[in-house]
Amino acid sequence: MRKAGKLIKHLGVLTSGGDAPGMNAAIRSVVRSALDRNLKVTGVQRGYWGLLSGDFQDMDSRSVGNIISRGGTILRTVRCPEFRERRNREKAYRHITAAGLDALVAIGGNGTSAAAYTIHQELGLPVAVVPASIDNDIFGTDETVGFDTAVNTAVEAIDKIRDTAGSHERIFVAEVMGRNNGFIAQEVGLCCGAEAVLVPEVAFDLKKICRELALGRKRGKLSSIIIMAEGAGDSRKIAAEINGHMGLEVRVSVLGYIQRGGNPSARSRLLAARLGSTAVRALCEGRTAVLAAVQKGAFVAAPLLPAVKQTKRIDHKAYQLTYQLAL
Ligand code: F6P
Repeated sequence: MRKAGKLIKHLGVLTSGGDAPGMNAAIRSVVRSALDRNLKVTGVQRGYWGLLSGDFQDMDSRSVGNIISRGGTILRTVRCPEFRERRNREKAYRHITAAGLDALVAIGGNGTSAAAYTIHQELGLPVAVVPASIDNDIFGTDETVGFDTAVNTAVEAIDKIRDTAGSHERIFVAEVMGRNNGFIAQEVGLCCGAEAVLVPEVAFDLKKICRELALGRKRGKLSSIIIMAEGAGDSRKIAAEINGHMGLEVRVSVLGYIQRGGNPSARSRLLAARLGSTAVRALCEGRTAVLAAVQKGAFVAAPLLPAVKQTKRIDHKAYQLTYQLAL
């Protein structure tokens, strides 16, 4: 176990889990905030896999030059199920100790947060998480780095789909990302004026939705867009069911990985810059298990444990609003 209260001189930084636009801007913020405080900074390649294998590189201010506008992550990322095994983690702890890391900033989503918390518990290493995931599903922060960009990418794509839907008087099912939750779907649904939003968290009645679509057609609404999160079901089966109920042409468009890539939006970059510096500051002030978070507009160093234990819920009022506005 590391001794509590030791001054931090050497910071590690990694990105883990699904890449999210703005991760590079977050790396830049962490590295330069740390250099500004005269810390040594080490980048860990490929997330927790890099800790297991000791794949470390020195970072200086130039190593994060010209990355603020780039999607993806220069440190690369993997999903690392091997890290769930204690005997593998022991290897990581040996590498952390040999490199002399005093603290770690982990940039990523729920899995990243859980692994960072485990390291803190088992090794006593101070850790801070910068929440970065297109899914926006981390408890304790109003928003994650990358979510805004992903929503904007999806909205732009669905606006284009709407042109075809209108011209051909068709129904479209547009599938957005979100295996376990519907944050992207809910926001995109509202922004695109969808007729329905299907998310894994809320049971839906497809027959009822079809009845509403039919009423809409009677009112002169000849095209419709249904936004569904990938975790809400099989989009092709749903399209076939709608076709069965209504006898109308239904097309499916799966947006997929275009939502993960691309230049981060101004908002994603802003969050990355503020949350990265919040994480470094908190560690330098002696905090040991932190979620850098935005809460009601304020950037705060929140405790990490709730983010690991609790599940963020979608806003049901906002979810219902899509249906209310789809008259
Ligand atoms: O967590 C981000 C995310 O894009 C989810 O929305 C999606 O379900 C998942 O990652 C896909 O992960 P992978 O690229 O590892 O298959």
